[in-house]
Amino acid sequence: MTKKGYFITIEGVEGAGKTTQIRLLAEAFNNDVVLTREPGGTILSEKIRDLFLSEETIFATTELLLIAAARTQHITELIVPALDEGKIVICDRFTDATIAYQGFRKGIDLKLVNQVNDIATNGLTPDLTFLLDLPPDIGLERKHDSSEELTRLEFESIESHEKVRNGYLSVAESQPKRVILIDARLDIDTIHQKILFEMKNRLHLSNE
Ligand code: TMP
Repeated sequence: MTKKGYFITIEGVEGAGKTTQIRLLAEAFNNDVVLTREPGGTILSEKIRDLFLSEETIFATTELLLIAAARTQHITELIVPALDEGKIVICDRFTDATIAYQGFRKGIDLKLVNQVNDIATNGLTPDLTFLLDLPPDIGLERKHDSSEELTRLEFESIESHEKVRNGYLSVAESQPKRVILIDARLDIDTIHQKILFEMKNRLHLSNE
């Protein structure tokens, strides 16, 4: 797989401010970036997202396989072609979310989660990942105060959101070169500047 562009992912617990930071980052690069999200990003993957977020009872393994199916389609149809064209691809959540949500929260064996992630990605890993970290009670409060519609996953207990956070923190700890941990309680502009700094520092990618 040849890859000339840059693949950046943004991760975090619910309400961590990913959407705002992704918007600011895109603006900083004059919107000359490909913005996408998981699950989703293509017509078929967005349909899978709707199934994934539906109110039906979805078993943990079903979640894992739906996410993987959406991801395979997304990578093949959108991410890899964009990277091949030399684009900066910014993706709202990726494989780390599967480790945090389906692994740590839903309790699926991490070896299995990693195997399924490997099948779905065919070895594609982000160049850089920003993890916006926040205690879940603050994130959920932010979500409840916003006008956004809440999904079934946001109604789960604080303990389950805590498991997601711990999952993310363990990924950050094990892969410090790729995953940049950012305190999402900082103000919006400080976080944005940190993200730009790291893109310059680690990838030599500058918006100047
Ligand atoms: P979003 O609200 O940040 O767009 O994410 C949609 C939901 O999907 C969110 O609750 C996290 C969940 N999710 C997983 O459970 N596993 C995954 O691998 C991904 C990418 C998202």
